[in-house]
Amino acid sequence: SHDAEVSWGDELQQLVQTFPKDKSWAGNNLYFYQGFWCPSLVLKSFISFQNHFQAFDSDVIVATFPKSGTTWLKALTFSTLYRNKITKDDNPLFSFGPHELVRIPTVSLSAYVGFRNPMDMFISLWHFTDKLREEKLDSVSLDQAFDKFCNGVCEFGPFFDHVLGYWKASQENPNKILFLKYEALKEDMNSHLKKLAMFLGVPFTEEEEKEGVVEEIAKVCSFKSLKELEVNKKGLHISGIPHTDFFRKAKVGDWSNYLTPAMVERMEKLVQERLDISGFTF
Ligand code: A3P
Repeated sequence: SHDAEVSWGDELQQLVQTFPKDKSWAGNNLYFYQGFWCPSLVLKSFISFQNHFQAFDSDVIVATFPKSGTTWLKALTFSTLYRNKITKDDNPLFSFGPHELVRIPTVSLSAYVGFRNPMDMFISLWHFTDKLREEKLDSVSLDQAFDKFCNGVCEFGPFFDHVLGYWKASQENPNKILFLKYEALKEDMNSHLKKLAMFLGVPFTEEEEKEGVVEEIAKVCSFKSLKELEVNKKGLHISGIPHTDFFRKAKVGDWSNYLTPAMVERMEKLVQERLDISGFTF
């Protein structure tokens, strides 16, 4: 009923007041909820999703930290799952952005997860949020943003907790959670696509492999191909962000053009303290 909704709203309002609060360098209000900095804009949907979402066995969730290759993984998943329904001339990727085809939150039980070198991920997020910052806000230096990132304060941070949480879950439940790394995908697309198809329960047949289906999916979903599509040059993401903002450089090691040696040292130490010590390998 309407009353119930209002009282749920009030209750939530009161609850939210008890959460630690901060601001991301993009200017978003963040609340620390269940170990993560959640943007205030999505907090209500987030809690509602946790309370009401019921998964089906056939569901698939793409769970990535922002700027770790979500767009790419969505395109690959969609193309792999529906390859028998897609024709060369009539590919939904030509008319819809990957974020439209695989919605947030896309519902699912099996998950696969995108991880990316934190330094490249940070630089990608820095550029992305810089574009989105409201003009009236004071500008934030790369130094300040980096400091916040290292302290875990960014949308859905801390980065290391996110990565470790999913990595551990994928170790415990390899059939339900596939852990993928951006750089590894770039290095060997074909074997990762086969792994992905196997995980999704739709392995490529020998015939498909001979016909070059794997290579074709990799090609259609490549950075160059997606970036050049009219729909991705013009369209808007569900949040109103232009699709084009999701395609920047897609380079491995772009961080070296921005981070100082002191910053690199700080990040390497964090990786050592947070990931290496936990036995994290990929
Ligand atoms: P850069 O900013 O380093 O270029 P997300 O999709 O999670 O928002 O991540 C965006 C990052 O993935 C951006 O990185 C973007 O350029 C890159 N990207 C987008 N599409 C890609 C694709 N098809 N292949 C590889 N990288 C891609």
